[in-house]
Amino acid sequence: MSINQLVYVSQASRKMSEEDLRAIHATARSNNEPIDVTGSLFYNGGWFLQVLEGPAPTLAALYKKIELDPRHKNSRILYNEPASFRTFPRWNMNMTNLDDRQADKYDELVEVIDAARGNRKIGSASPAVTLLKIFKA
Ligand SMILES: Cc1cc2nc3c(=O)[nH]c(=O)nc-3n(C[C@H](O)[C@H](O)[C@H](O)COP(=O)(O)O)c2cc1C
Repeated sequence: MSINQLVYVSQASRKMSEEDLRAIHATARSNNEPIDVTGSLFYNGGWFLQVLEGPAPTLAALYKKIELDPRHKNSRILYNEPASFRTFPRWNMNMTNLDDRQADKYDELVEVIDAARGNRKIGSASPAVTLLKIFKA
């Protein structure tokens, strides 16, 4: 089945605790699994960035729901295009809290950015460049 990749950034409505993030992550994982959505969610203390991968109509409906979530605001789609393969095939939702400042997490993000910049996985430089600007320490 053909899939799209959708990338958006949003502003957290308030500072998220570990518990808040765990709750979002748990909901995302269990809801995304049956609808064949994979992806990754980054949080850096003030902003969320999420990559969602799945059938286009599924993503449209899911994004509509996520956008209305009061835990964040000013959500803006950076990228929404067909993709030939998934960047996060093993993750119904991966979660990276950049507040933790764990080196391996940064490496992971850099990998995603590199893939996007190299037009390999996410498929366009523009979301990656924006991503880089927002998420650099
Ligand atoms: C930053 C952020 C990312 C989210 N990502 C997802 C997601 O990938 N999938 C999902 O189902 N819900 C996600 N949610 C939660 C939804 O907004 C919503 O609360 C949830 O889908 C409702 O699930 P329920 O109908 O099972 O209660 C996210 C929320 C936030 C704030």
